[in-house]
Amino acid sequence: MADPILTAPILTARAVTAGYVTGLPILREVSIDVAEASVTVIIGPNGAGKSTLIKAIAGLVPVSSGAITLGGTDITNIAPHAMAAHAMAYVPQTDNIFRSLTIRENLELALRRAGSARKARLDKLYDMFPPLAQKRDEKAGALSGGQRQFLAVANALAVNPRLVLMDEPSAGLSPKAAQEVLGMARDLTRDGVTILLVEQNVTQALKLADHCYILAEGRNQVDGKAADLLGDPVVADIYLGGKRVRATT
Ligand SMILES: Nc1ncnc2c1ncn2[C@@H]1O[C@H](COP(=O)(O)OP(=O)(O)OP(=O)(O)O)[C@@H](O)[C@H]1O
Ligand SMILES: [Mg+2]
Repeated sequence: MADPILTAPILTARAVTAGYVTGLPILREVSIDVAEASVTVIIGPNGAGKSTLIKAIAGLVPVSSGAITLGGTDITNIAPHAMAAHAMAYVPQTDNIFRSLTIRENLELALRRAGSARKARLDKLYDMFPPLAQKRDEKAGALSGGQRQFLAVANALAVNPRLVLMDEPSAGLSPKAAQEVLGMARDLTRDGVTILLVEQNVTQALKLADHCYILAEGRNQVDGKAADLLGDPVVADIYLGGKRVRATT
């Protein structure tokens, strides 16, 4: 992939301060650059503000200062329903599919605004995810954890996004399923899609990503090429040593 420094980033956050309650910022002047058709991963301890950053980009958490741009357009504080219009999709960590609906119904719901392109897009999604095609008439709740994540991503892809935000897509999955989900994120970049994801499977994510940002206490800490951080002893000590404890909620 192209070096992020040499090409204009498709997504930028500049000194973004954001939080859930006025006057109580969670993110403090966080900046990131995401290169087009790359995988960028955000890592950091519990409560670092990783999910908050993804939500701020998606317009789900108010930004009090700083700016976010997508393809050169200012998208700071966009309405969440405007995400699709900006060709952006967000895959939340949990509750990202309708379990009581079939796979087909989930995808048809996601494609409800696709108009005349609906059938072609549905076929394309089935082509991309053969296990979903096979089980199209089964309830989504009956899928394995990995397949549920595939469905969540397929739902997100229904709007033909150029940027997909994913919050811990491999959480709770077996190492094999996690690898499949992360590999799928990588595959999407071959079609020009840009991926920004939060991951707690740090080693796996760094092996797959192009660039990595480490957040702690709502601030930028370190960033660099994922391969470089993988070999960095300080990063290894803090983030790869299994010291991070998963929250139970
Ligand atoms: N809805 C909310 N309202 C108020 N504060 C919140 C809300 N969600 C998160 N926070 C707070 O924001 C801070 C950052 O949380 P965030 O969920 O962004 O962290 P994270 O890095 O994603 O952590 P984790 O690894 O546990 O998912 C935490 O102190 C958290 O308590
Ligand atoms: Mg989180």
